Amino acid sequence: MAATDDMSTDSREPTLAARDLHVHLTRDGEEVHALRGVSLDVHPGEIVAMVGESGSGKSVLGLAAMGLLPHRSRPRTGGSVLLGGTDMLTADEETARRVRRRHVGAVFQDPMTSLDPTMTIGAQLGEV
Ligand SMILES: Nc1ncnc2c1ncn2[C@@H]1O[C@H](COP(=O)(O)OP(=O)(O)O)[C@@H](O)[C@H]1O
Ligand SMILES: [Mg+2]
Repeated sequence: MAATDDMSTDSREPTLAARDLHVHLTRDGEEVHALRGVSLDVHPGEIVAMVGESGSGKSVLGLAAMGLLPHRSRPRTGGSVLLGGTDMLTADEETARRVRRRHVGAVFQDPMTSLDPTMTIGAQLGEV
């Protein structure tokens, strides 16, 4: 996850700040405690890689930070995850969309369906 610089805020403020983030998701009537108290900061210009075994919560953390936890999994959350100063856990849809436009560029898992092999990466980023 690369943090973009934000001229409107103090550059010492983290672009992404998670505090004691908890996420529970429900699948087939069973609740999974997917994130258990995650805290981290990503500052402008910093590059952070998340490493962990399959199922350790990398994707859920990314989705929570973007305000894209799947509704169908009835997410229950605790703590906070601020992106550009906005808590993505409590932001309404319009606010979350605005924050994503400003701060997020995502290439989702399975690049064969996320990226178009007939276009250059540059052209695809430019199109967004
Ligand atoms: N939509 C979902 N509904 C219920 N549980 C989920 C859902 N997505 C992920 N999980 C569970 O959350 C945990 C973390 O998953 P995930 O973030 O996908 O792991 P990783 O990306 O590190 O492989 C796992 O136990 C996984 O089964
Ligand atoms: Mg994953």
